[in-house]
Amino acid sequence: MRISVAIDGPAGAGKSTIAKLVAKEFDLMYINTGAMYRAVALVARDNNIDDTNIEGLCSLIDTLDMRFENDDLILNDVNIQEQITMPEISAIVSKYASIQEVRTKLVKLQRDMSSKFDVIMDGRDIGTVVLKDSKFKFFLTATPEARAERRYKELNNRGLDVNYSTILEDIIKRDYTDSNRQIDPLRKADDAIEIDTTGLSISEVTEKICLNIKSNI
Ligand code: C5P
Repeated sequence: MRISVAIDGPAGAGKSTIAKLVAKEFDLMYINTGAMYRAVALVARDNNIDDTNIEGLCSLIDTLDMRFENDDLILNDVNIQEQITMPEISAIVSKYASIQEVRTKLVKLQRDMSSKFDVIMDGRDIGTVVLKDSKFKFFLTATPEARAERRYKELNNRGLDVNYSTILEDIIKRDYTDSNRQIDPLRKADDAIEIDTTGLSISEVTEKICLNIKSNI
C-alpha cells in the first residue's frame, strides 16, 4: 500500500522546510501543492487572464505539465521555483486558488501523483480533501509574527529587498482569504495532529512528526 503524509497550515508555518526533511527520512516524494497554485497564478498573470475568466484559466491549466524535481516545480520543462516564490505571486495566488474549477483540476493532478508515488504533500486542504484517507496528518501553526519573521529572513537571504511589515500584512490577508473561502478552506482535519511551531526549532518539529510516523507505520 502507498504511504501518504499530509501537512497543512497557514503561510510560513514551516510546512515545506519540514516536509522536505520528513521526505528524506522516509524516502517520500515531496509535493508542494502551494507551488502548483502559484504556477497557475504566474502563468495566468503573464497571459493577462484574470480570476473572472474561468474558461481561460481552465484551458490554460490544460496546457501545463507540472512535475517536481529535487523539490522544485518544473513547469513545461522549465524550473520556475524562484519566480513563483516572489512576493508579487504571493500577493495574487489566493484569488486564483479560491476558484472551484482551478481547485478541481489541481486536486486531480495531486491525487494522480499520490497514486503513483509514496508522497508527502503540503498545502491547505491536503488532510481534509486531497489525501483525506491518509493515516498521517499534521497541522502546523505559528503566530503571524513568527511566520512573517521566517519569510522575511528567507527572502532577505535570497538578496531580495523586502519589508517585514509588508510580509506580515500579506500573511494576515492570505490567512483570511484561505480560511474564509467557500471551497475547501484552510482548516485542520479532525484527525490531524496540531503542532504549534512558534519557538520550536526545525529539527524539533521534524522529530515530532517522524516519531509519530514511525510509531504508526
Ligand atoms: O503554501 P503556499 O503559501 O506557497 O501557498 C500559496 C497559496 O496557494 C496559499 O496562500 C493558498 O491560497 C493556495 N493553496 C491552496 N491549497 C493548497 C495549497 C496552496 O489553496 N493545497
